[in-house]
Amino acid sequence: MKIEYDVVIIGAGASGLMCAAQAGKRGRRVKVLDHGPKPGRKILMSGGGRCNFTNRRVSAQNYISSNPHFAKSALSRYRPQDFIALVRQYGISFSEREHGQLFCTGSAGQILEMLLAECRSAGVCLAFKTSVSSIERQASVRGFRICTAGESIEASSLVIATGGVSMPAAGATSFGYKVAGQFGIPVVRPRPGLVPFTLHPEDKTVLAPLAGISVKALVCTGSASFKEQLLFTHRGLSGPVILQASSFWQPGAPLTIDLFPDGNLEDLLETEQQTRPKRHVKSVLTEHLPTRLVQARLNEKLLDSPLHAISRQGLKNVADEIHTWNIQPGGTEGYRTAEVTVGGIDCRGFSSKTMESRDVPGLYAIGEVLDVTGWLGGYNFQWAWSSAWAAGQVV
Ligand code: FDA
Repeated sequence: MKIEYDVVIIGAGASGLMCAAQAGKRGRRVKVLDHGPKPGRKILMSGGGRCNFTNRRVSAQNYISSNPHFAKSALSRYRPQDFIALVRQYGISFSEREHGQLFCTGSAGQILEMLLAECRSAGVCLAFKTSVSSIERQASVRGFRICTAGESIEASSLVIATGGVSMPAAGATSFGYKVAGQFGIPVVRPRPGLVPFTLHPEDKTVLAPLAGISVKALVCTGSASFKEQLLFTHRGLSGPVILQASSFWQPGAPLTIDLFPDGNLEDLLETEQQTRPKRHVKSVLTEHLPTRLVQARLNEKLLDSPLHAISRQGLKNVADEIHTWNIQPGGTEGYRTAEVTVGGIDCRGFSSKTMESRDVPGLYAIGEVLDVTGWLGGYNFQWAWSSAWAAGQVV
């Protein structure tokens, strides 16, 4: 059966639904195809079920891309306040957490329901459990033929909104990269981002007793550094600061971790040495840090020494063990648990204003499938909304 639409969008996730609603509102006949049984599965999982749907302070600097300027235009045309206005229009209550992150007070399902309501009112047709078997460019007209098991659809615009490859259990596939390959569009090598680190066996043994401990830490890798909570787990290192660093980490590179980033332990120890010289090193450190963590970083003999028995250099060495911990992760937990994919369809061949391919007119890519990856904190959804909105005005 041959059917005609103006726009076919592959992927009913955050960006696909947003783009569909925008294009539908302009009177375009829109069909969204998704291989999964239901839409927006990652939206439902996001933000611990509360969806960190945007961030009050968004700029292109919060994104990783081979083309760092690419995200600027879309982010400035559809801003966090535009999405917040939509959320308010639907009466969804939300709250602000640290670093300007906005979360639903109720559930992530409200954001998905809002997007579906927008699609319904715009007359968008949604099809689930529908896999695309082939895509052909129509030579005669400016358009595409998209074949599924039951249909052959013709559309003048084709939007790839299939997301990254993280979390295959939530329906992620490399379909978007394959479509790019079909049309000769390069893909920047994908890798897992916002993902916990695993440890080499020797570090794992030493750190195993720390599982469950969470401390504020400054983590540096390459030229990137973040200060947030670090969580020791049974598998390795996690928590917001580790997820942030993971998106910048290169395999084999070390992490430098400051476990007491808001203070100066050397000064603190010296002051204590002068005022209360009989105190033990351990009792000073455990005033500020969890005992198990202190025990894992320093040897028992040193910890049990009175401060007066330690030289100035000795105190500096103690402080360094906490302030400058160098560790080389064994790897990451990979796509199974990664929240995002760093890399993706190379955006250098796309218009930053419309998300349309320069070489394949009528072909668009939006959201995480592109080589634009946000930090942790609502930036990835904002990119999904902004890039989808930009394409939605022109498809
Ligand atoms: P998205 O992944 O949303 O949608 C892609 C769609 O394409 C899916 O419906 C999928 O089924 C479909 N698809 C894939 N392959 C297909 C194929 N071959 N054929 C047809 N359909 C196909 N971000 C944020 O800003 N704040 C947050 O709180 C969180 N939290 C979070 C938690 C967890 C657990 C994860 C995994 C991710 C997050 N994220 C996040 C990231 C955020 O979810 C992500 O960046 C956006 O959903 C990306 O939107 P897209 O529309 O690009 O892809």
